[in-house]
Formats: sequence, C-alpha cells, structure tokens
Amino acid sequence: MTLPMVVKDPRLPARVRIYEVGARDGLQNEKATVRTEVKAEFIHRLASAGLRTVEATSFVHPKWVPQLADAEALFPQLQDLAEAVRLPVLVPNEKGLDRALALGARDVAVFASATESFARANLNRTVDEALAMFEPVVTRARAAGAHVRGYLSMCFGDPWEGAVPAAQVTRVCRRLVDMGCDELSLGDTIGVATPGQVAALLRDLNDAGIPTDRLGVHFHDTYGQALSNTLTALRHGVTTVDASAGGLGGCPYAKSATGNLATEDLVWMLDGLGIDTGVDLTRLTATSVWMAEQLGRPSPSRTVRALSHQEQ
Ligand code: HMG
Ligand code: MG
Repeated sequence: MTLPMVVKDPRLPARVRIYEVGARDGLQNEKATVRTEVKAEFIHRLASAGLRTVEATSFVHPKWVPQLADAEALFPQLQDLAEAVRLPVLVPNEKGLDRALALGARDVAVFASATESFARANLNRTVDEALAMFEPVVTRARAAGAHVRGYLSMCFGDPWEGAVPAAQVTRVCRRLVDMGCDELSLGDTIGVATPGQVAALLRDLNDAGIPTDRLGVHFHDTYGQALSNTLTALRHGVTTVDASAGGLGGCPYAKSATGNLATEDLVWMLDGLGIDTGVDLTRLTATSVWMAEQLGRPSPSRTVRALSHQEQ
C-alpha cells in the first residue's frame, strides 16, 4: 500500500489522540438501521486497527435517534474490548446515565449547544435548560468514577442563526468545565469553519482561561475544510481530534451537516507529519471498505478511495 513520505514539523505535537466517532456520529445518521452485530464487528475492527477511544453509541430517547435504539444490546457485546479501549457513550440526561452506568460504561459524554436553535432541535431545551439537565449527570457520572466529555455543538456557525459569536461559545465552555467535564469537544456541526476562525476561537478560549489541553476538535467536512481546520488546531496546542472512519456521519437534527473528518484522511496527514496515533492505516482502510459494503455505498473518504482503488 502507498504510504505518505514522512517530514516532521517541529511546531506540531509528537502524538495525537484520535477520538473515533464513526459508530455513533456516523451511524446515527444512516437512513437504514445497521444491525447490532454489524455495529459490534465495526467497533471490534476499529479497535484492532489501533484506535483506543471508540465512541460506541448513545443512550438517548430511541424515538429521537432510532438508529442507536439498540444501545442495550450493543454495549455488552463490546465488553472484551473494555480493558484496552475507551468506549464513550452519549447521555443527555439522568435517564440516559442510569442506562449507561447499569451496563458498566466508564466514559460518558453530554452534548451542549452554543446556540438556542440547535439546543431546541437536538435536546428540546433552551441552552440553559440543557446545561441544568447536564449538571446532575456530570456530578453523578464523576461520583461513579466515569470520565466525562462535554460536547459543544455549533461553535463556528449554525444553520438557523448563521454566525455564532465567540462569547456564546466561551460561556457554555466555561459552564461545562465548571460543572466538572474532564474534556470538551468543540463541534463544527455543519462544517462551515475555516482555519482563521478556528485559531481565533482557540485564542479566545485560552484568554478566557479554558485550558487548551482539555479541548478536542470535532470537524465535519461539508466544505472540505476539516483537515486544514485540524492542522490549525494542532498548531494551537490541541492534541485530541475527533474523526469518523470512512467519513461516515452527519447529524439528524442539523440538516446541513455531512460526515465528520474521515479518520483515514486524518491518519494519512498525521503519518506524513510523523505524528504518532497508534493507528494502522491499512487495517483501518480495510474496515471502512468493509463498512461501505455493509452500507451499500462507497466511502466518501478520499484516502479510503485512493488506497482501496474504489470507483471515484
Ligand atoms: P424530551 O422529549 O424533552 O424528553 O427529549 P423528556 O425529558 O420530556 O421525557 C420524555 C420521555 O422520554 C419520558 O418517557 C422519558 O422517560 C423518556 P415517558 O415518561 O413519556 O414514557 N426519556 C428517555 N428514554 C430513554 N433514554 C433517555 C430518555 N430521556 C427521556 N435518555 C431528550 C429530551 C434529551 C431525551 C431528547 O431530546 C433526546 O434524546 N435527544 C437526543 C438527540 C441526539 O442524540 N442527537 C444527536 C447527538 S448530538 C450530535 O450529533 C452533535 C455532536 O456530534 C457534536 C457536533 O457535531 O456538533 C455530538
Ligand atoms: Mg458531530
């Protein structure tokens, strides 16, 4: 298989943690519901490709996201991975947390919004009502020994509200950190960000006292900007990057969202920069080719297509 030539850049970190979201952010947006056994095999294959954080599913209301309604059936099928792989799950409220903890989840994620429109569409709450809903979730999850991630959607633009002022993002980030989230993920839910905006927001968050080492970035690739935005974030000290194998994804409650940054495209770039991720690109590509067969359409990832010689 072709591999990129390695040329290091001293301004970049030596290691990047890839937070794989394909099985959750990817599959939640598939029209057809993928069988539980296929999801379990997908996650096992992702783990054998070297991914060490693999978001598994969501304990949300099954009517809101029917594609992930099998969380109770799926999660126990992953238990052989639990020693080696972190398997975060989304929990919007205490009911979701109860379901997750009952199955032994040790990594959970709440998901806030920087905008009122998306908070309403995604959580049926205002921004502040959603934060109030998360408070007891975060407190109880931490008391139970779980690691808590706080997602923040629409950090760079919103399909209903347009531009999102950085002050709105900073305020919600502050609340998530203060309530006890161990890490945050800054979501470009509809993929509109460009590098200057990423740099400016990271500077604003740093000025507001939000520690950069607690931040991850979550770029969707709608306008082809996800990799350049990622490189910008790495130059500003971020070392956790969300990505989705094969570029699966979108968001059922934000119609203009397309897939996440493809994990293979990310690994190709990081391999070329000599940045350690622990991921085996050959195995990962084979996994996405297999998943594309399950879904009956080619992967949108440029790297998957190039390496597997899929039809363009
Ligand atoms: P609601 O209708 O306001 O819920 O939905 P409620 O609190 O009024 O409860 C209504 C009923 O739902 C009750 O049942 C609850 O028990 C039940 P009843 O008493 O009527 O029989 N219920 C639940 N059942 C199972 N599991 C639960 C649960 N909670 C309540 N957890 C709610 C509010 C938050 C539940 C709903 O809006 C929801 O589930 N939303 C999830 C939406 C979602 O998953 N979106 C995608 C993930 S976010 C994303 O993709 C963005 C991200 O990738 C980052 C980025 O790209 O920006 C993370
Ligand atoms: Mg997303």
